[in-house]
Amino acid sequence: MTPLRIVASLTAVMAVSVGLAACGGDGESAVQLSPAGALGRDTALQKGCAACHGTEGEGRVGPAFQGLFGSTVSFQDGTTAIADEAYIVESILEPNAKKVEGYALPMPQTNLTDEELASIVEYIRELAAPAEGAAP
Ligand code: HEC
Repeated sequence: MTPLRIVASLTAVMAVSVGLAACGGDGESAVQLSPAGALGRDTALQKGCAACHGTEGEGRVGPAFQGLFGSTVSFQDGTTAIADEAYIVESILEPNAKKVEGYALPMPQTNLTDEELASIVEYIRELAAPAEGAAP
């Protein structure tokens, strides 16, 4: 809607093209994603997540998605948590409920449908556990 959002989307699209070119242009990402996981990656690009978390989930001003699922995350208040599905969902729906240690920037609230949320969670799961025949 706003010009800023449009510019952000265009930038994300351009970043993807550059990323693909850098990989040799065969369209293969470093991690093999199931169709559901690939949908989540596309959703993360469309919704602007990639601007902060990287076009391949490698992390930028926000933490990397690669290797996140199942790992132990440390928070600014000194507590820790295992990054399971519930944690990932909470991090997305209530970005400021828990502040990841070392990241000063606040993550913005986003608007996702249940389907978009589920696909992004699947994407993040597969980035950490790139199983052939990922979970249904
Ligand atoms: C403006 C930058 C920005 C955008 C856009 C953004 N995030 Fe974040 N995100 C952050 C930062 C910074 C943190 C770490 C600080 C915190 O916990 O709030 C974070 C934390 C997270 C975490 C927890 C990561 C961890 O290591 O525990 C998840 C999951 C996440 N974001 C998913 C998303 C998704 C999905 C989207 C898109 C719908 C998104 N983010 C959009 C900046 C962003």
